[in-house]
Formats: sequence, C-alpha cells, structure tokens
Amino acid sequence: MRLKGKVAVVTGAGAGMGQAVALRFAREGARVVVAEVNTVSGKSAVEAIQRAQGESIFVHADVSEEKEVQLMIAATLNQYGRVDILYNNAAVELHGQDARAHELSAETWDRTHAINLRSVWLCSKYAIPPMLEHHGGSIIHVASPTGLYGCAPGYTAYSASKGGVVALTRVMAADYARDNIRVNAIVPGTTDTPMIAPLLEDEGVRARLMALSPMGRLGRPDDVAGLAVFLASDESAYCTGGIYMADGGLTAI
Ligand SMILES: NC(=O)c1ccc[n+]([C@@H]2O[C@H](COP(=O)([O-])OP(=O)(O)OC[C@H]3O[C@@H](n4cnc5c(N)ncnc54)[C@H](O)[C@@H]3O)[C@@H](O)[C@H]2O)c1
Repeated sequence: MRLKGKVAVVTGAGAGMGQAVALRFAREGARVVVAEVNTVSGKSAVEAIQRAQGESIFVHADVSEEKEVQLMIAATLNQYGRVDILYNNAAVELHGQDARAHELSAETWDRTHAINLRSVWLCSKYAIPPMLEHHGGSIIHVASPTGLYGCAPGYTAYSASKGGVVALTRVMAADYARDNIRVNAIVPGTTDTPMIAPLLEDEGVRARLMALSPMGRLGRPDDVAGLAVFLASDESAYCTGGIYMADGGLTAI
C-alpha cells in the first residue's frame, strides 16, 4: 500500500476523476476526506470506498467559499489529526455561459474563477499550516490542456482559470520546497465524465474529440489515478513544480 497512514483531502470527489482518485487513494491505504458540494454524490463516493474496505468521511464543502474551506480542513483535523495530501480537483465548465472574450459575462468569469482557481488557493491556504506542523505534504492541482494551449475556443473563463492553476502550481512549489511540501499539477486529457457529458451527447462531437486524441479514445476517470498516487506518495519525493500529463498524448501534438 503506497499511501498507508496518510490522510488525503480530495475536492469534488463525488463524480468523475475526483471520485476515481478518492477510491484509488483509499485502496492504497489513505484515509480519504471526500469534500463535495453535492451531498448525494459525496456520500455515495464514501459508501463506495467503505464497500471496498477503505476509510473515508464525507465533508460538505463549496470550495469557492473561504469559511467552508476552513471548516473542511477543521473537520479533517478533528477526524484524523493531520493532512498529508490535498488533491485540488473540483471545478466547473459552464457550458452555454462560457464564451469568447467579448461575449462573456463578468458573472460567468467570476463564478468560474471562484470555483476553479480561487478554491485551489483557498484549500491550499488552510491545508498548508497543518502540513507545516507535520513537516511535509503533497498538494496536487488538476489543471487542463486549456490552461496551456488555446485548444478550447469559446471557453475563455475556463481556460484562463486553468492557466492560473498552472502558475499557482509553480509559485507554490517554489515557496514551500524547503518545507517538504511538494506542489504538482496533473493535466488530464479529454475525459468521459459528467463535466463534459453535455458535449459528448452529440455523437459528432464525441467522434471529433476522440479523433483529436493521438490514442484515438477519450480518457476514463481512472486514467489519472496512477499518476495521482505517484505524486501523492513518497515515491515522488524529489518532484515539485511539475506539470504532468495524463492526456493520451493530446498535448504532445
Ligand atoms: N473531463 C475533462 O475532459 C477534463 C479535462 C481536463 C481537465 N479536467 C479537470 O479535471 C478535474 C475533474 O474534472 P471532472 O471531469 O472529473 O469533473 P466532474 O464535473 O465530472 O466532477 C467535478 C466534481 O466537482 C464537484 N464540484 C463542483 N463545484 C464544486 C464546489 N464549488 N465545491 C466542491 N465541489 C464542487 C462537482 O459536484 C463534481 O462532483 C477538474 O479540475 C477539471 O477541470 C477535466
């Protein structure tokens, strides 16, 4: 078990890749805090972990709200006494609202940035003090190809928020390297999850997205889990500030 004894907080763990990573962390021996704004899916993720003999609690949190993030970390410390791993995964892509720059509303920009970028900073802000106390930790941000390339035309707010996640990864890695707190980012490819379900309903769009991937298929939620375990574990002790792809080659071309 590669994460035995560690405590992991996974945001947005009720669905998609967050759920897959939470389950995998638990299988590797971590005690997992499922932090989710959706109570039904969050609780069912915890039940899935428990059915697999893992240890987990559900904490309701809207990670864009500072008070809720503070309570989320307090609940984690209350239950498990430490935070070793923070997996900053929760995000939204506001289909039908995100748009080209001149067509985008300030509300959509602000909401996207609050959930996708501000939350990543907020969760880190409150997880870092207990990590400093225990002399180490691993923080993993989930970025996107859209934060590196202009590959999602019409998704201005989402792409800019993910670019911010990349920058945050690097500055935080530099700031905490001497504290043994490592900060890395995972870049998933186009992955079949609820986030992009509205796009995939259109068979033509699904076929085009599959064709764009060098591997010729969409990602599955579990495709990021092996990399997540590596970055969360002590096996990646010398890795910080890295932007790691699990994208089927999408950003290689
Ligand atoms: N699916 C893709 O193609 C793709 C590609 C690249 C990057 N990503 C990124 O991967 C990560 C996971 O994406 P996914 O596709 O699994 O998403 P998803 O929409 O399937 O799941 C996201 C989860 O986050 C939760 N969430 C949303 N807002 C929240 C909030 N304010 N507080 C707490 N939880 C909240 C949702 O309820 C949901 O359970 C995201 O950061 C996403 O931007 C996704």
